[in-house]
Amino acid sequence: MTLRERRGASIAAIGVIAALSAFALGLDAASTAPSDDRALYTQSELAAIFRLSPLGTPPADPTDGVANDPRAAALGQYLFFDPRFSANGKISCASCHIPARGFTDGRRVAKGMALGTRNTPTIINAAFDEWYFWDGRADSMWAQALQPLENPREFGGDRLVILHAVYGDGPLRNAYAALFGRPPALGEAKRFPAHARPATDPNSPLAKAWAAMAPSDRRAADRMFSNLGKAIEAYERRLVAGGSPFDRYVRALKAGDVAGEEAMPVAAKRGLKLFVGRAHCDLCHSGPLLSDGQFHNLGLPLLLGEAPDPGRAAGMAEVKASIFNGVGPFSDDPRGLAKQKLEFLPTPKSALGKFKTPSLRNVALTAPYMHDGRFASLREVILFYAEGKAASKGRLVGVREKTLSLIPHLSANEQSDLVAFLKELDSAPLPPALTRPPVAP
Ligand code: HEC
Ligand code: HEC
Repeated sequence: MTLRERRGASIAAIGVIAALSAFALGLDAASTAPSDDRALYTQSELAAIFRLSPLGTPPADPTDGVANDPRAAALGQYLFFDPRFSANGKISCASCHIPARGFTDGRRVAKGMALGTRNTPTIINAAFDEWYFWDGRADSMWAQALQPLENPREFGGDRLVILHAVYGDGPLRNAYAALFGRPPALGEAKRFPAHARPATDPNSPLAKAWAAMAPSDRRAADRMFSNLGKAIEAYERRLVAGGSPFDRYVRALKAGDVAGEEAMPVAAKRGLKLFVGRAHCDLCHSGPLLSDGQFHNLGLPLLLGEAPDPGRAAGMAEVKASIFNGVGPFSDDPRGLAKQKLEFLPTPKSALGKFKTPSLRNVALTAPYMHDGRFASLREVILFYAEGKAASKGRLVGVREKTLSLIPHLSANEQSDLVAFLKELDSAPLPPALTRPPVAP
């Protein structure tokens, strides 16, 4: 039990004692005291609500040895906002993960060097996740961070050009060396070409330059590249934010604090009751993130002109094959939980068309919605769920999950109530020092 939970439990215990003593005195609590919102929910709804809050603290990531090092976080924050690593010198992580927009970009699909195919998720509270990307093709935040740097539609870089950029910048190089030791001898142009990376096309100039490097130099380059990801993760791990009106409401509910229960409007309370009750949203949007961290096929019909997206089926294969996964040579804990995570994956076939359940914290800030950004508003998302199977007419990728049929018909008022609830999930603002580029690494 965390300190916060313990405090919640003891406050709840006081509530019970108060209720019992009122009973013992023969008082009718309902007529003498203002009524407590706990009466609005069934026992099981109440238990489900209590599982959604508070947020708590993120789990450790033993695969990243500097995950909790403040110097790594400072370096990572510098890298996160630095556009010099992109092919046009203009794109940084923060171009798409814009702090003022809940670390998203407001676009249907992302745009870096070129237009992408997927919607930009927030990275607030990403430290709680087990898998990264909509298809979970990375199993740690450090491995995730390496991909946009080499993605031709995002930064359009390659690992050697990025390593040279760090090496060529005195303060950056020093910050790197202080954490990870001396970088490879990138000044030796014969050993470390200006551009190189492993690529799917072995005949591409980048792949050829990579293949021409000595295996030990390739290993050293990969090591340095993975270290940059680890520093970025250390920064991202600090982007943790709870403290939403919903969290205040749950705290008040647990304590029987009638005044505190005003933290949320009445429509949002009706929405919450639906969310954990009749509408069964918490079958997947469960736990303090309002996400089970798993992958599901909602039966979103293919959009006109859109190529089928295999989702998790492809992501599973990629994460297993990646040299930067949690069991690989650059992991700081290859035998721990990361190993179990990768060993117990289901078959790819069962995962066709599945995408990660997004956290619903801060969801009002992160429009548009779904992996492909197809819905412009929360109202549209809820309408999709409310229409049930009818909304899945058209060509599907994989099979629509059966559990979705547990969601009943939802009236227009009920849909509005759910939207009202989702709007109470915005977290308290992050400290400004974490949402702007630092002056030095
Ligand atoms: C061009 C826009 C763009 C840039 C630049 C970009 N991202 Fe992203 N980011 C995205 C998109 C789109 C996704 C989802 C892609 C997917 O699932 O295939 C994503 C996913 C993520 C995720 C996973 C979130 C989750 O819930 O699974 C993290 C973490 C992240 N990015 C961090 C970063 C970091 C760190 C950088 C810089 C090194 C970066 N991003 C650069 C657009 C961008
Ligand atoms: C079977 C699991 C499941 C159930 C049940 C479910 N969801 Fe979802 N939800 C998901 C998944 C998976 C996605 C992402 C789907 C995608 O992009 O393909 C999602 C996406 C969303 C989004 C968009 C978030 C974003 O950032 O893009 C919202 C809002 C949402 N769900 C709310 C709800 C509500 C409200 C209910 C109940 C009426 C509900 N969900 C029921 C799994 C589920």
